[in-house]
Amino acid sequence: MSKYFDVIVVGSGIAGLSFALKVAEAGRKVAIITKKNSAESNTNYAQGGIAAVTSQTDDVEMHVADTLDAGDGLCDEPAVREILKDGPASIEELIQRGVDFSQLGDGRVSLGKEGGHSKRRILHVRDVTGKAIEQALLHAIECSPNIETLEHFFAMDLITPPKVRRRGLSAAGPHRVLGLYALNTHQGTVETFRAGAVLLATGGIGQIYQYTTNPYIATGDGIAMAYRAGVEVQNMEFIQFHPTAFYTKDSDRFLISEAVRGEGAILRNMEGEAFMSRYDARKDLAPRDIVARAIDAEMKMSGARHVWLDTRGIALEEMKARFPNIYAYCRERGISTEKDMIPVVPAAHYLCGGVKTNLNSETSLSGLYACGEVACTGLHGANRLASNSLLEAVVMANRGARAVLGYLESVDVMEAELPDWKDGDFRDSDERVVLLHNWDEVKRTMWDYVGIVRTKKRLERARTRIKTLDREINEYYWNFKVEESLLELRNMILVAALVIDCALQREESRGLHYNLDYPNKSDQLRNSTAAL
Ligand code: FAD
Ligand code: SIN
Repeated sequence: MSKYFDVIVVGSGIAGLSFALKVAEAGRKVAIITKKNSAESNTNYAQGGIAAVTSQTDDVEMHVADTLDAGDGLCDEPAVREILKDGPASIEELIQRGVDFSQLGDGRVSLGKEGGHSKRRILHVRDVTGKAIEQALLHAIECSPNIETLEHFFAMDLITPPKVRRRGLSAAGPHRVLGLYALNTHQGTVETFRAGAVLLATGGIGQIYQYTTNPYIATGDGIAMAYRAGVEVQNMEFIQFHPTAFYTKDSDRFLISEAVRGEGAILRNMEGEAFMSRYDARKDLAPRDIVARAIDAEMKMSGARHVWLDTRGIALEEMKARFPNIYAYCRERGISTEKDMIPVVPAAHYLCGGVKTNLNSETSLSGLYACGEVACTGLHGANRLASNSLLEAVVMANRGARAVLGYLESVDVMEAELPDWKDGDFRDSDERVVLLHNWDEVKRTMWDYVGIVRTKKRLERARTRIKTLDREINEYYWNFKVEESLLELRNMILVAALVIDCALQREESRGLHYNLDYPNKSDQLRNSTAAL
């Protein structure tokens, strides 16, 4: 027996929640499926803020120019213009929904500065912007009678009509998404959901790397689901490494926001040298790809495990008021930001590629929409400008919601039969050690061979390892009952393979993709296409 909703939204971060609210406000029935509790998302951890033009001295064209510059020649310029133009209205809506952006003493909104921005244009709620946005949106969701939120449901795979082959041609009528299968992780049962349309808002893939700022949910599930359904995925090689995560001996990587550098903090190497001037005229506020590579180079030269972030120039009172969360985190680890320096290292942070969409958040599969970090709209090109992610997510959610309402008018949702999931006589796993081991191996392989600086040989080595893991996990998948860790690992391995595949296609160095064998730019490839 399947459950029916007009629209199923997978994910409860800024993208999924914003989209769900808009669709429900138009009277449609929406289910939000989310694999943990609703608040657990990358959104909830966002610190620096959301970039948009709101000041008299700023201009959308300047925001466009900064975004294009960071994107290193690969942004889709019309997409950049459209998305950034919608920014101020989307900010206004967030304010209407209750997001209380920080203000200056005189009542004007406080605007932060981050790398690559020529102006102060980042709205923030102290250093907990994501949490404030998430809470406001979740509150609005609770008040909506048209939205049902299903926590601890893990979306596994999309349902599409089987292709009927006649004389070699695919002739199965309209090929569109019909719904999805989801694992109720508390009960261990797989449920079938029928829907007029599905939105993927599953966020990023940081967990495929050993060191990441991302929470555990970021395992690339939406990209894997889309890819398995034959949907176009592109530019997966562009992984953004954030330059400044707090260094610890274990694998935790708490973010130290770029906004701290925006307020005057300086990177120093082990000799105490403020090294960024040797790498870029914008020094510590150069775009992230440049700063992360510079730190990587300094660490490799000195053999040090981290560099320092010197916050001693920021007054204690300012630090406590503007960055209370970061200040508290450092204090708990014995660091007083007014007199000590913070040990920092780069960590995997954001995926610029993903499921290809147009400016209505439509994917290459009818009825399937994607927005937020899972999607690739062309806004970020080869490197995302700081704080453009939350903005893109909310703008594209609003645009996608408008489009899906039109789409729903045109489909007969009940026309197709949905096959129920069959667990057959699969048994419970007695080999969980394989999952644990392979989980670590994917993360280590990606960190060691598909990191900030790449070579063809390292990428090929990674491809061989990931292929072996892929064989093992698929054997496991077909032998045992599904469970969350198995599904996540299977997705992580697929997504890792897509990153490597795209990275091998790009025989140049550009933005976030730096390959020592091809140190220069080339015009041969605009968008890489994931096709294993
Ligand atoms: P997410 O917020 O990640 O939400 C994804 C949702 O999908 C989650 O609810 C998850 O549980 C759910 N999900 C995933 N897979 C499944 C599945 N199989 N089944 C069901 N549910 C699933 N960007 C900025 O612009 N400004 C910032 O200041 C900023 N700071 C950041 C700080 C940190 C520490 C991090 C990690 C990121 C930061 N980013 C920032 C990036 C930004 O937060 C994310 O790109 C953005 O929040 C993504 O939103 P989203 O809605 O696409 O996905
Ligand atoms: C940060 O606060 O440094 C993160 C901002 C971002 O990822 O855009």
